[in-house]
Amino acid sequence: MSCEVKECQCCCGEENDQQKYDKIAEVIAKYKTREGSLIQILHLSQNIYGYLPLKLQRFIAERMEKPLSEVSGVVTFYSFFSTEPRGEHTIRVCLGTACYVRGGKKLVDRLEEILGIEVGETTEDRKFTFEVARCIGACGLAPAMMIDDVVYKQVNPDKLESILAKYKK
Ligand code: FES
Repeated sequence: MSCEVKECQCCCGEENDQQKYDKIAEVIAKYKTREGSLIQILHLSQNIYGYLPLKLQRFIAERMEKPLSEVSGVVTFYSFFSTEPRGEHTIRVCLGTACYVRGGKKLVDRLEEILGIEVGETTEDRKFTFEVARCIGACGLAPAMMIDDVVYKQVNPDKLESILAKYKK
């Protein structure tokens, strides 16, 4: 009995590159004729692939029959697109005015120490990507930060390690 390649998965259940590209091709076929769909296609592609390396940008450009420069221009313009692999969780420390004056920078310094990376980088184990934000809408309870979609308010730098521990499991 022969094995159907489509149904095969590696032991960790993760999709391989080809499967991801196939999914992205489906997304492009579905949305490419819609006006202004490039950003939506890039979003969905980033969700599927994890990030948008040049090779993938080229693939999207070819399938959408657009110049690579147009696709790359959009990817580099918006900060929510990444051309590097991202961590499983995204930490965003607010450095808006209210948070900055109430200790946001101390959170940044402490997180750099704990994570061993600088703002804009991803930890080697791909657990965390570390970024800063301008305001996350919690100014009254500054300093604030987000991990993925969860907002942490009045964050004490001494509590950061225990907050991160929840995400390391
Ligand atoms: S300035 Fe930090 S939440 Fe608004």
